[in-house]
Amino acid sequence: MKKSHSQWSSRMGFMLAAAGSAVGLGNIWKFPYMAGEMGGSAFVLTYLLFMFVIGLPILVLEWLIGRRGQKNPIHTMEDVAVSEGRSKLWRWVGIIGVLGSFLILSFYSVIGGWATDYIFLAINGTFNGVNGEATGQIFSSFLGNTNSLLIWHTVFMAANTIIVAMGVGAGLERACKVMMPGLGVLLLILVAYAAIVSGSSFGKAFDFLFTPNWSALNGTAILAALGHAFFSLSLGMGIMMAYGSYLGKDVNLLSTARTVVILDVIVAMLSGMAIFPLVFANGLEAGSGPGLIFVTLPIAFGNMAAGSILGCLFFIFLTFAALTSSISLLEPTVELLEEKTPMGRKTATVVSSVLIWALGIACILSFNEWADVKLFDKGIFDLLDYLTSKIMLPVTGLGTVIFGAWMMNQKVIRKELNLSNFWFGVWTVLTRVVIPVAVVLILICGFLPETR
Ligand code: PHE
Repeated sequence: MKKSHSQWSSRMGFMLAAAGSAVGLGNIWKFPYMAGEMGGSAFVLTYLLFMFVIGLPILVLEWLIGRRGQKNPIHTMEDVAVSEGRSKLWRWVGIIGVLGSFLILSFYSVIGGWATDYIFLAINGTFNGVNGEATGQIFSSFLGNTNSLLIWHTVFMAANTIIVAMGVGAGLERACKVMMPGLGVLLLILVAYAAIVSGSSFGKAFDFLFTPNWSALNGTAILAALGHAFFSLSLGMGIMMAYGSYLGKDVNLLSTARTVVILDVIVAMLSGMAIFPLVFANGLEAGSGPGLIFVTLPIAFGNMAAGSILGCLFFIFLTFAALTSSISLLEPTVELLEEKTPMGRKTATVVSSVLIWALGIACILSFNEWADVKLFDKGIFDLLDYLTSKIMLPVTGLGTVIFGAWMMNQKVIRKELNLSNFWFGVWTVLTRVVIPVAVVLILICGFLPETR
């Protein structure tokens, strides 16, 4: 059965949707706490380098392959491989990618649900005058409350379903056109607020993030930066490939990718500049790990002028960012079902969402009632996170770059990217050697004992 394939309505819409996917919990929740734990600027500068040298070329390749295939990631990989005279088995790159996005969404939605709930906690003044012990308790009783986790996970998944069911142009693209500018404005307000209320701590935060202290750079930090560059650009999940499949021939991949990477980096940096001044001004710990924005930051909001309003804005910002990413996580599965089954877009979206939602419930239970259910010494939530970000994501990324650099006709790629001799030389060295080696390293280190 042949169904017509949709397209983005404009380059701008595509760019915002791709940036929406890239900018997410990774920028606001994960990046600042990683920077905090890894000693700040050395990690930040390494991450910046990897974003451009490694992330950008893979992003371009995913789009390029997706645009060539015009289908869901699995059949795109299969078709493009066959047309290049290669084995159909390359479809496995697509299979692992789609599966990865499916699994990630199950727990990403749970955290998106936390962010949504925190909007209300902040506005209700729950954090007024709290100390660390109190916010820690609020967070742990929150994690112990299956019902409320379930409700917020459901609300968050429902929002995803509605947006994705409306389709590529009217759903994904339009949602990002509304939410991304909103996100930018909220972020600027938050940074301005941090600058005003935190006094000299603003400069301290700036130094912490940007003044190089190379002594803090070790192997763990380098690999974490590399892995995060991947996660942050939504690579290795079939997502950018799926987004590329809706892309018209006229869009310049390199310049669009550059803009997306720059936006993604700016949001990460500004999030750091919104968060760390408050953390320092309140004498809190920068290296407090994943609890940084759910436990540490509320203390700051609870003890500052207009904190409940700004806290509320902060969590709205976080929810928007999570939502523009989670819709992209839903897309590959929906595209697959829509193309390969008789289901229409709406049914395909509902079916995918319900399956993902159900898996999300297992994640929720792993925080409380099923806390003892362990496989390889990890609870369900941790296991899914580990499996996807440490194994599936690098494997798919590696497959994509090897396919793009070694299996595809390079002359055609060069023409498509419109590169000069010099830049094509750089591109070739990066995609054929540097990136594969780097990705293999991430993969190997993923198997080493947890260093976090
Ligand atoms: N890039 C998103 C972020 O930074 C996370 C994400 C990963 C989204 C993989 C989609 C796929 O939060």
